[in-house]
Amino acid sequence: MPRREAGEKVTGRARYTGDVRMPRAAYVAVVPATVAHGRVRAVRPQRALALPGVTAVIYFANCPRLRRTGDGELSLFQSPGIAYRGQFVAAVVAESPLLAREAALRVGVEYAARPHEVHLATEGPSLHPPPEHGPWFPTDCVHGDPEAALPCSDVRVDAVYRTPPYHHHVLEPHASLAYWNDGFLTVHDTTQGPSGTRDVLARLFGIRPDRVRVVAHHIGAGFGSKAAPRAQVVLAALAARVVRRPVVTALSREQLSAVVGYRTPTIQRIRLGAGTDGRLVAVSHAAFEQTSMIRDFSECSAAPTRTMYAAPHRMTSHRRARLHVPSPTWLRAPGECPGMFALESAMDELAEACALDPVELRLRNDTPVDPHSGRPFSSRNLAACLRLGAERFGWAERDRLRARRSDRRQLVGLGVAASTFPQYRFPSRATVHADPHGRYVVRIAAADVGTGARTVLAQIAADTLRVPPDRVTAELGDSAYPSASWAGRSSGTTSWGTAVVRACEALRTEIGRRGGDVPPGGVEVSWDTSDELAPPRAFSQHAFGAQFAEVTVDRATREVRVPRLLGVFAVGRVINPATVRSQLIGGMVMGVSMALCEEGVMDPAHGHFLTRDLAAYRVATYADVPHVEAVCVDEEDFHTSPMGAKGVGEIGIVGTAAAIANAVHHATGHRFRELPLSPRRLV
Ligand code: MOS
Repeated sequence: MPRREAGEKVTGRARYTGDVRMPRAAYVAVVPATVAHGRVRAVRPQRALALPGVTAVIYFANCPRLRRTGDGELSLFQSPGIAYRGQFVAAVVAESPLLAREAALRVGVEYAARPHEVHLATEGPSLHPPPEHGPWFPTDCVHGDPEAALPCSDVRVDAVYRTPPYHHHVLEPHASLAYWNDGFLTVHDTTQGPSGTRDVLARLFGIRPDRVRVVAHHIGAGFGSKAAPRAQVVLAALAARVVRRPVVTALSREQLSAVVGYRTPTIQRIRLGAGTDGRLVAVSHAAFEQTSMIRDFSECSAAPTRTMYAAPHRMTSHRRARLHVPSPTWLRAPGECPGMFALESAMDELAEACALDPVELRLRNDTPVDPHSGRPFSSRNLAACLRLGAERFGWAERDRLRARRSDRRQLVGLGVAASTFPQYRFPSRATVHADPHGRYVVRIAAADVGTGARTVLAQIAADTLRVPPDRVTAELGDSAYPSASWAGRSSGTTSWGTAVVRACEALRTEIGRRGGDVPPGGVEVSWDTSDELAPPRAFSQHAFGAQFAEVTVDRATREVRVPRLLGVFAVGRVINPATVRSQLIGGMVMGVSMALCEEGVMDPAHGHFLTRDLAAYRVATYADVPHVEAVCVDEEDFHTSPMGAKGVGEIGIVGTAAAIANAVHHATGHRFRELPLSPRRLV
């Protein structure tokens, strides 16, 4: 089924947050800090306020107080402290966006600057284990005695891998429109979770959640940057309260790198010990990451190593530096993506050390039981993905292909990597309404971040109701609808879909109870999955996959290109082949971009990202990915959801960079352990 809003989107009729207009709206421009650490000594708003049409300048001394939420990024103008360069120190409200911008340049700010530290290292005073109760995952896990087992292993790999910061650079920059009416706050916001944003705004402003409404009909991608509420929505609500008018806050692309998060750079040391047959005896994965001074963020980069391969001796750890940097956040497959780049690169090194085929090495270390939890996997079809991928990609011809296609100009190589992503499901509520004409409307406060959620939820409802899909409409993107979990951790379809299935089942029962009659006013049923989704789980639930890449490396320019990329995935039942394929190849394209192009560059002298726009921050384009294909193996998993489906949003990116780096090794004979594989690095 094609995406229902496709026509609206391609004809420009779809209204995104920045398209929403309100009479009497005022516009905000922000004043970013120009030092990376210190304090605001004084703000001088007079020259800005002197411009006709400037309504207010908001900063520490005159800002209304906000309650705390645990996310320091949202405590706007609550303290004069500066945690990173680019942090908002003042905001100007004016009659037009351009006027606000001009006025923002006229705001004088006097700083008391202090020395800053923005460099991530694996030792030093800034390095702490994440707080005991901070992250949602355990920081350290040890099974057996890896320190003793590693040195006595027959075959050993010990290597350090590095990934740079990555920016989301979503097509639609973050924007909000807010207005207050009789103590009731309405916001239009670029958010991956209207219900969550509502709750956080209610806490910040000390009002009941039912006094806040968050609307987000269309989202131009989030990739995690819109998963938590961002400063601009708080700013819009704050400014609207101060000037008693609707207020629009639209960030410029240049501002995004400072205030909407990015993927932390990582330094990861992997040590593998194996027998000469390639079977792992010991695995150790130590990850080093960063966070800011005002937001606790931990990336679970070593977590996939806990569940991926069996070994009697295993150790994983996360250490984190608190630096004077912008706050990192989730970016598509946070943790799994950089972590599997390191692990799957190391597995390729192990295959070489054991003189084993990389596909065969992974098959030998496959496991039906999750080594971390000891629970069986509800389904784990990694082996099927590896085998089907190898067959379709011509893997058996790997060395012959390299020899045949390489010439004086181009080296050719093939690489593989495995992928995994945990299956999450979060409690949600859904309502379904039947009218006497056989039409059904599903309502749920889910967000469609560009994935096709409206279409897929209507399909799920129609399937449960046993009616044709064109009789069902799904209405999303509004916190006025029943509360839903966010569009994150690849959990949207399974979380919301479970609530929709249960609501539709209850509706069928209700209509059956009435002898099949729907009264003129219709019948409506609501369902909450909180009880059903309460832990514990009997099974470990993950999606699996494998990416196969062919690369060419230009001997003269050292440019790497990817003429062919194949992903094979085991993601449960495929509800909508078109939207599933879009997610999978979208993730893989992002993986090509990560492997070859993207690199956030921090300026140590000034403590800010130099890569603030799409000229400085290179993103893969269509020409960079001439042939990307994704296929799914047959799988249905009714432990993960009543639809038999798993999440597909993130697994596409997970192994892609490692597959490309492994292919570059196959082509060149050299191992490059730091991304991106740009000509500068391929020396
Ligand atoms: Mo996704 S990075 O969990 O929004």
